[in-house]
Amino acid sequence: MKKVKKRTRMLVRKKVLPKVVGKSASGVDRVPVGIGEFDSLIGGGFVKDSTNLLVGGSGSGKTIFATQFLISAMQKGEKCLYVTFEEKKAQFYENMLSLGWDLKVYEEKGLFTFLEYTPIKVKTMLEEGGGTIESIILNKKIRRIVIDSITSFALLFEDELSQRAAALSLFGMIRDWDCTSLLTLEEEPFDKNKKTSRAIEFEVDSILVFYFVRDEKERQRYLEVLKMRGTNHSREVFPFSVVKNGIVVGKKSVSRAFE
Ligand SMILES: Nc1ncnc2c1ncn2[C@@H]1O[C@H](COP(=O)(O)OP(=O)(O)OP(=O)(O)O)[C@@H](O)[C@H]1O
Ligand SMILES: [Mg+2]
Repeated sequence: MKKVKKRTRMLVRKKVLPKVVGKSASGVDRVPVGIGEFDSLIGGGFVKDSTNLLVGGSGSGKTIFATQFLISAMQKGEKCLYVTFEEKKAQFYENMLSLGWDLKVYEEKGLFTFLEYTPIKVKTMLEEGGGTIESIILNKKIRRIVIDSITSFALLFEDELSQRAAALSLFGMIRDWDCTSLLTLEEEPFDKNKKTSRAIEFEVDSILVFYFVRDEKERQRYLEVLKMRGTNHSREVFPFSVVKNGIVVGKKSVSRAFE
């Protein structure tokens, strides 16, 4: 009797769970970020199993956006991994709680894994294969991964060629894990002397840019999609804000230039 009940519960749960992956008009599987106005700019979401890069300066909203990408999946029962080289777990959980996201609860449900890692360990993983990240992803059947940020990893490589080879190898690995990934890159979008991003930018499937610029009275946040392979994405710049429950993207684009 107990077994029957358990099975029924599982079936009900399966049926009730909304799909986390949808198809866009072009027939490509899409993984929604979970921010309505943003998803509509990119044809419904990131391309499934793609590697996506979010570039922005300090405080521009990268970590919040990346966490929201995971929260929206976990709300639907999907398992997520957040890898960081910089954030401390307790501080990060506390910051996200201020946006109403209780990561401890998701962790207890087995949906969220926080992994503090070192860039060197990632390098070893690429050279030797496997490692902690891979076993977490395969054992827990992780579907979305955030690496926040990729900057210090990129800085391990001195020249552009070795940076590009490392990026290729890392992104290839992520693709093989059947994961849709979002990597953040700490860099002022206007910086003409970019040290890290060129090699990475070539290899990722999409690039989002966040601007946090001073208007007359105060700083405002803006975003744009610089590239997204296989997607007829918006080419306009939209304002966005960080509010109580995360990021809200404005409906109207702006006509200002950020160069
Ligand atoms: N609960 C909140 N309500 C409103 N705004 C918030 C809230 N929490 C954070 N913010 C805003 O978001 C900013 C931090 O955003 P976030 O951590 O995503 O930036 P980041 O681009 O990851 O920065 P860094 O490069 O330093 O990691 C804060 O400086 C603040 O302006
Ligand atoms: Mg951050």
